[in-house]
Amino acid sequence: MSKIYASMLSIGAYSPERRLTNVDLEKMVDTSDEWIVKRTGIKERRIAADDQAASDLGVLAARQAIERANLAIGDIDLIIAATLSGDFLFMPSTAAVIAGKLGAINIPAFDALAACSGFIYALATAKAYIESGMASNVLIAGAEASSRFMDYSDRSVCVLFGDGAGAAVIGATDDPSAAIIDTKIASDGTQWDNLYIDGGGKNPIREGKPYRPFIRMKGNETFKLAVRALSSDVAEILARNNLKASQIKHFIPHQANLRIIKAVSETLGLSEEQVVLTIERYGNTGAASIPMAINDLYESGKLNKGDLMLLDAFGGGLAWGSALARFGGDAGR
Ligand code: COA
Repeated sequence: MSKIYASMLSIGAYSPERRLTNVDLEKMVDTSDEWIVKRTGIKERRIAADDQAASDLGVLAARQAIERANLAIGDIDLIIAATLSGDFLFMPSTAAVIAGKLGAINIPAFDALAACSGFIYALATAKAYIESGMASNVLIAGAEASSRFMDYSDRSVCVLFGDGAGAAVIGATDDPSAAIIDTKIASDGTQWDNLYIDGGGKNPIREGKPYRPFIRMKGNETFKLAVRALSSDVAEILARNNLKASQIKHFIPHQANLRIIKAVSETLGLSEEQVVLTIERYGNTGAASIPMAINDLYESGKLNKGDLMLLDAFGGGLAWGSALARFGGDAGR
């Protein structure tokens, strides 16, 4: 019997219509367009409509990914969602809510909780399920309505994040030239207090205590840890697969900060043409940023079947990861 590989069969995304520009933020906190662009590379981000939760964004991205894979909802046998701003506090999972809205009943659905790295954690899990024969078509979705967890008086955080969703169908193939080659995921829980959202069991919600479930971050520390972890991580995943950076067609990093992306790209010696950037338009969309960026590439007609992608992400946990994958779907138009 030939070996079963996992393959990214399709990509989809959704970005809400409402825009929050740096100029808008100038009216809300003591900041400037110049500071935000210089320190982060972000110009604007999208904000979910009042009646849209993370699952609603995820469903729209998921439907597009399933359609582009030429599959029906009934063909999906596992759903994994990645989010740091899900519809509910821990239960039900956002994956279960997405599955319900899609009408995918009676299949397993769970969240890969690894903050901004969640999409790579979901990809690694989908790959394992498919290669072991436990699933045939896995829908993975990164969906964020992080504006709901934003303290719009904290200028060090609120300028960074935006809402959006991206999804991919990971399916089985016997074609190694369309396969997800490798994934590498890691965490360091001793560093949790660099990036977290309060209100869980450690600091529970109690009557009389103000509930402030906001994203809290030590930006400068997180920045340094991200550059260090990602630079060695991407070098390692390339080395263990005997690949050189020059063989990468598209480097698709988590879009958290342009300076982090540039530092990692320079360590690898990548050219500008290899690096996919969406941060200027969407900001940091958490677990959705990588699939949204892949979708941008797809819709601009630059992603072809067999193209070698290097993905990397870093976020709360701390958790990080990288993946080497050849695109397994038809070229975008
Ligand atoms: N507008 C203007 N000034 C701001 C500001 C804003 N939005 N946010 C912070 N500042 C100020 C700080 O108060 C500080 O002022 P001070 O020197 O008077 O104390 C100064 O800018 C420098 O702050 P610092 O935090 O050292 O800036 P930085 O160069 O590290 O940039 C981040 C801040 C948040 C942009 C940067 O640290 C970062 O991007 N970190 C990683 C974030 C990230 O990727 N997180 C998610 C991982 S998934």
